[in-house]
Amino acid sequence: MKSAEQSEQRVQSHYDDIADVYDQRYDHRERGRQYYDHISQGVLDQIGTGGELLDIGCGTGLFIRRFLKHGGRVTGIDISSGMIKRATTIFPSEQFLVGNAEFLPFSENSFDSISSLLAFSYLTKPDKTLEDCLRILKPGGRLAVCTLGKNVFTSSLPALFTIGEKMKIRRVGVGNFIEHYYTAQEMHELFEAAGFTDISIYRCSFAHFTFADPLFSIAKRVEPFIEEKIPYLAYNLIASGQKPR
Ligand SMILES: C[S@@+](CC[C@H](N)C(=O)[O-])C[C@H]1O[C@@H](n2cnc3c(N)ncnc32)[C@H](O)[C@@H]1O
Repeated sequence: MKSAEQSEQRVQSHYDDIADVYDQRYDHRERGRQYYDHISQGVLDQIGTGGELLDIGCGTGLFIRRFLKHGGRVTGIDISSGMIKRATTIFPSEQFLVGNAEFLPFSENSFDSISSLLAFSYLTKPDKTLEDCLRILKPGGRLAVCTLGKNVFTSSLPALFTIGEKMKIRRVGVGNFIEHYYTAQEMHELFEAAGFTDISIYRCSFAHFTFADPLFSIAKRVEPFIEEKIPYLAYNLIASGQKPR
């Protein structure tokens, strides 16, 4: 059994190691871009645009780029110094810091909104992170988390990642660490326990960028139907909530 601390160190060194190739996955190929645009739009729909944003587990800033198109200011925090170094180079006018999402070193009522994409599954104390998010959000501010949800596909991922690491595949997400994939109910309970109101949880994205064509195009076409009628099959879960006014 891996301890939480060991797992965090492995996550950190994995992302330090792949920081220079990370963007290729989502931003250099049409499929990756479409996938990432789709989940980003889902998060933007929940938090709105403009104002002071904190992005948790910000990586190289793929979401930050999409957020800044509409104005606003951003602070990004990430456990990997490699990812933060790249983000700082790409967005020299924004603020970045290396840190663990469990300790958000900001004062009360600092941000209009908080986002976190594809990072929440790594957190070993998600309850603590959410409590801290509530503290640092301004009253009425919104938090949106996009993370892999639990379903038949994601259940096999930990085994695949372990194999990937043993084979020394240097690729994004291929590493042997503790990851947790959430059900909608688990997420709802976490948000509620932290004190968020106006909580909404929905499943998002069926066309996964790892699908080769024509599978990706077919999945993209049926995506709206899946998200609405068979949400269990969608990969990501977008949870959002508001700090009471
Ligand atoms: C799959 S990447 C996502 C990066 C970015 N949010 C994006 O959407 O491209 C996961 C990120 O979460 C960060 N991360 C994982 N655990 C973390 C923690 N405990 N605190 C802060 N960042 C963490 C990793 O270093 C990595 O940059």
